[in-house]
Amino acid sequence: MVYKSIVSELLLLLLLYFSTLCSSTQNYYYDKGSVDTLSQCPGKYCGRTLMSNGSWSPCGACERGLRRNTTSACEICSDDPTFYDWFYLGFMVLLPLIYHLVCIDNSAKRRKFTKEVIILYGIAFVEIVLAAIFSLLIFEPRGSLYIRSCHVRDLADWYPILHNPNPNYEGQLYCTQEAVYPLYSIIFVFYTLCLVIMLLVRSWLSSKLLPGRGKMSIYSAMYFFPVLILSHAVLGGLVYYSFPYIVIVSSIISNAAYFAYQLDQSMKSLFMGTLKNGRSLVILFGHWFLHAYGIVAATEIQYPLLLLLIPLPSLFYILTSKFSDPSHFM
Ligand SMILES: *[C@@H]1O[C@H](CO)[C@@H](O)[C@H](O)[C@H]1NC(C)=O
Ligand SMILES: *[C@@H]1O[C@H](CO)[C@@H](O)[C@H](O)[C@H]1NC(C)=O
Repeated sequence: MVYKSIVSELLLLLLLYFSTLCSSTQNYYYDKGSVDTLSQCPGKYCGRTLMSNGSWSPCGACERGLRRNTTSACEICSDDPTFYDWFYLGFMVLLPLIYHLVCIDNSAKRRKFTKEVIILYGIAFVEIVLAAIFSLLIFEPRGSLYIRSCHVRDLADWYPILHNPNPNYEGQLYCTQEAVYPLYSIIFVFYTLCLVIMLLVRSWLSSKLLPGRGKMSIYSAMYFFPVLILSHAVLGGLVYYSFPYIVIVSSIISNAAYFAYQLDQSMKSLFMGTLKNGRSLVILFGHWFLHAYGIVAATEIQYPLLLLLIPLPSLFYILTSKFSDPSHFM
């Protein structure tokens, strides 16, 4: 059975290669100017827009918020974002939130929560939530917390700029547009809003609450957001497909790192220390939450039993710390 499917797969692939080879040596024909009845456009993203006088425009990029359908007409993006899309957006919201919380925690330089630090956490949380709400309101349908989108079909959809066709080598057709509207642009809007709201709200509050050190978390965020925006521009599509695994792997690593930094590595102290200290509990549950988030996004809750794995990395560390303690190896 497996043999057969592999052979047929290979045959199909060969067929595909030959057909593309043949078609690239043939002339590609398409209607160049505007047309009265819809006709195909070359490339993956070129489409025709309906003009006010009833004819279709020459092949080119669809307007923002539109994407070409299989017959090359630019159609309004009116799909519902999928479960996975929402989790992707949630992940992009979690990134700056986690960054803020870690920065505030670092700048407080305390092992226990104080009132000021908790207030700063709250402010950072409100900032991010406000930025997320505003971003959702701005995008179609305007003024609602819902968005309409174009389905992501494959990785290329995130990089239409790499897919401008050059039919018959007569010159490139520029059809670059946001094919995954609005999943790509909404992130830029969101991060910009985060930065603006942070500068408006927190710059004067944090120096009051944590004099001297409070500013550090803001300065570092002013580097963090541009880096985040740049990496989204370049890596957006890759992150879209891999974020559940990024979340799972990094939460496991950071969970182990957190335990490894505890002074007393005995099983009892790790266990009791976590239960007694509010900050440790929050960090532990934060890790569990991220872990669950990654698992749910990766499996789309097809295997709910996997959620039982959530506490596993922490338990594993606590139970095996006795054996992995470096002092045993020296
Ligand atoms: C519509 O307008 C375009 C240019 O604006 C023109 O090329 C085309 O012929 C017009 N179509 C009709 C049916 O008038
Ligand atoms: C593409 O859109 C055009 C215009 O809205 C419509 O006439 C056509 O049937 C659509 N094609 C498909 C395959 O849905």
